[in-house]
Amino acid sequence: MKEPGEPLGKLGRPKMIFRQMFDNVSSTYSYLLASRRGGEALIIDPVLERVDRYIQLLNELDLRLVKAVDTHLHADHITGIGALRDRTRCITVMGEQSKADVVSMRVVDGEKLEIEGVGLDVIYTPGHTDDSYSFVMPDRVFTGDTLLIRGTGRTDFQNGDPRAQYESIFQRLLKLPEETFVFPAHDYKGDTVSTIGEEKAFNPRLQVASVDDYIELMNNLKLANPKMMDIAVPANMRVGLAQEAVAAQGWAIRPQDAFALLARDDVAFIDLREQPERLRQGEIPGAVHAPYPALQENIASGGPLNELSATKRLVFFCAFGERSAMAVQAARDTGLKSAFHIEGGIDAWKKVHGPLRH
Ligand SMILES: [Fe+2]
Repeated sequence: MKEPGEPLGKLGRPKMIFRQMFDNVSSTYSYLLASRRGGEALIIDPVLERVDRYIQLLNELDLRLVKAVDTHLHADHITGIGALRDRTRCITVMGEQSKADVVSMRVVDGEKLEIEGVGLDVIYTPGHTDDSYSFVMPDRVFTGDTLLIRGTGRTDFQNGDPRAQYESIFQRLLKLPEETFVFPAHDYKGDTVSTIGEEKAFNPRLQVASVDDYIELMNNLKLANPKMMDIAVPANMRVGLAQEAVAAQGWAIRPQDAFALLARDDVAFIDLREQPERLRQGEIPGAVHAPYPALQENIASGGPLNELSATKRLVFFCAFGERSAMAVQAARDTGLKSAFHIEGGIDAWKKVHGPLRH
């Protein structure tokens, strides 16, 4: 059997870069994925205290971090997604149910989370929390705290629900091929990887006769709260980028004021979202689609947005205003004097009944 991270070159598929990184304070695993040296990278469940290490590794492997993903709102450590965004201008990603104030992109069940050369199927696996997601690749699954190695994530706080977790595990995760590698968000015993087949056979929590037995088991664990909980949960709910800095420069446009600009031919609306978000949330009529990961090329000298800015004012927008705030800053840094953004993104645009095409 091929080991995780082993080059797939002989099978004719591209080699993948894969790193499992451990935070020994919170026993958290974080995962770095990329399809090639010099390409785009994605990180799952980064820990704040380890951010320097991730940046160093990204530099060593010549990778550009594009997405930082949390499987759920963590209670036992402070997430590194906000710090990674501030340092690399990457996109922060969580599920749509997340109570985090602002993330750049929210995903839903059935969507695909993509970077160059790597695609993760998004599956909603609530139970540990009501915002828990798992991410599936052809040979592996990142299970967050839904399914652990010989364990399952506790269900007694953050809207946890043992019934939902049973369904997530038995109806979704255990339906994956038995040889699928399981990479959890934590391990406290030193295990690093398992498989679906192994967990089915040997995970003591899964040897139950019924959903009621599982609920009974989970409701009687009597666990102490995580030491960090009172600090980590509130901190992890405030990961949003301070869009005020962009607003203070006069570069933000309130959504209700942006309507009037729609009809003007000296203004171009630039949609930074990715295709699944556009399909789900709707499009602003007439907007140019220029996904955020390609921003640097697009605004560089000779790039299409750079050229467009010679004759038009650029009004960036995205889902929640975070990518667009970063885009305005990047465009201004590149010398584009006519860059603005819609504060709060499509989310805010919808609230003031801005026109959307589906
Ligand atoms: Fe958790």
